[in-house]
Formats: sequence, C-alpha cells, structure tokens
Amino acid sequence: MTNMTNRTAFVTGASRGIGRACAQALSDAGARVILAARDAKKLEEAAMQIPRATCVAIDLTSPESIKEAFSKAGKVDILVNNAGITKDGLAMRMKKEDWDAVLATNLTGAFLAIQQVLPSMLKERWGRIINISSIVGETGNPGQSNYVASKAGLIGLTKSLAQEIASRTITVNAVAPGFIETDMTAVLSDDVKNTLLAHIPLKRFGKVEDVAAAVRFLASEEAGYITGHVLDVNGGMYM
Ligand code: NAI
Repeated sequence: MTNMTNRTAFVTGASRGIGRACAQALSDAGARVILAARDAKKLEEAAMQIPRATCVAIDLTSPESIKEAFSKAGKVDILVNNAGITKDGLAMRMKKEDWDAVLATNLTGAFLAIQQVLPSMLKERWGRIINISSIVGETGNPGQSNYVASKAGLIGLTKSLAQEIASRTITVNAVAPGFIETDMTAVLSDDVKNTLLAHIPLKRFGKVEDVAAAVRFLASEEAGYITGHVLDVNGGMYM
C-alpha cells in the first residue's frame, strides 16, 4: 500500500458515510486527515476513532465558513470533495431554493474548497483533488435534476481543472459511486432497492469502503499518471 505519511488530507462531509470511510482509508495509508462537516459533535466522535485525525467545522454553503475552515487546516495535499445533499423533486415543480441549495453545497462548495487549496498545491507542485460525483451525473435520473446537474457539473469541473493544473503535478479526478449503503440511501423503499439490485451485475449494493478504496488509490503516488478521469464504483450498473 502507498505510504502517505507526509501528506495531509482534507475530507468534506466526513462525519459519516462515504466521507468518514475515505478519512479512515487515507489514515490507514498513513496520512494526517482533517475531517470537515457541519456537525461538530459528530465530527469529533468520528475523529476520535481515526488515527492522526483532527476535525474542523465547515458549512459548504457559506464562502466565509469555507475560508475559515481552510485557514485553520493549514497546508492540504489531498482534497476530497465528498459532502453532498439531495432535495429531490420533478423539475416542473422544483422550488428554486431546492435547486440553489443542492448546487450550492455539491458544486459551488466543492469549487470554493478547491480555490482554497490550490495556492499551496501549486507552490508545492504536488496535489490530489478528488471530487465525489455520482453514477447519475453520467446517466441522468428523473426526479433529481438539481442533484444530477451538480454531479455532472463536478465532472466538468474535474476535467477542466485537470487540464489547467496538470503541469504542476496536481491530479484532479472524480469518483462516481453507484448505489452505496449509507444514510443517504437508507430512506429508499424496498421496492426501489429491489429494482436497483436487478440492474447491478455484481448483485449487491456498494459499501462505503468500496468508494474509499478508489479514493485512496487516486490519492496515492501510484495514481500519478491518472488525471481528469471519472472512476465508476458501481458494481457494473453503468459502463
Ligand atoms: P451522507 O448524507 O451520509 O453524508 C453527507 C455528508 O455531507 C455529511 O457528513 C454531512 O454533514 C455533509 N454535508 C452536507 N451538507 C453539508 C454542508 N452544507 N456543509 C458541510 N458538510 C455538509 O452522504 P453519503 O451517502 O455518505 O454520500 C457522500 C457523497 O457521495 C455525496 O456527495 C453523495 O452525493 C455521493 N454519492 C452517494 C451515493 C450513495 O449511494 N450513498 C451514490 C453516489 C454518490
């Protein structure tokens, strides 16, 4: 396994689910990890269980909060933009506030976080930026036009930024999970879950560790020749 002992990773939305698993996996590889999310209490609980972890409160809908969190964090070598929300509904009836909230958290928040880490990465001439997109960012999904726009937007951001900063040995990649068992998906009905399962060639839902392993790989030294890529972690649901 790659050795990340001299690296600092900043993971957004790390209080639970995929983000927490990413923080754990990067810590397992030796990195110092900074867990960031809104809920300071949950974050502290998570950080206590992960070696070399500290935490910082961040609200990705607030540019001021993002700036403050990164100023507390110091130099970041690996940024994992994982925080995300859904506010589903048919486009025709979607409230603008639900559109805005999802775009602000999932896409604008990630962009502003990237802006915070770029100066030091450019100076160091090394960095890893990993954006957690989604299978639906590639396929589309009825009832999720706001969420899908944010996740497809992250893929566009990934590819553009990868080209802008490749000359400084900074890679930018996206991971597109399929159906992963987390709080976000626990709310789906059994009917919906069974329909999804029928479309997954590997015949199981994903685990948070499946996504975290992909993130750890993209953050590693070994992945240094991969940039602008979208890595599907979806059991074959979309190829
Ligand atoms: P989750 O709902 O369990 O956790 C989301 C995390 O984001 C939490 O830590 C929450 O505090 C944080 N967060 C939300 N809004 C925030 C804000 N304004 N500021 C700071 N932090 C905020 O979600 P889960 O399932 O772990 O998903 C993580 C990422 O993976 C999300 O971006 C999601 O869209 C994506 N994803 C999840 C899939 C799944 O099946 N669970 C499938 C594809 C993508």
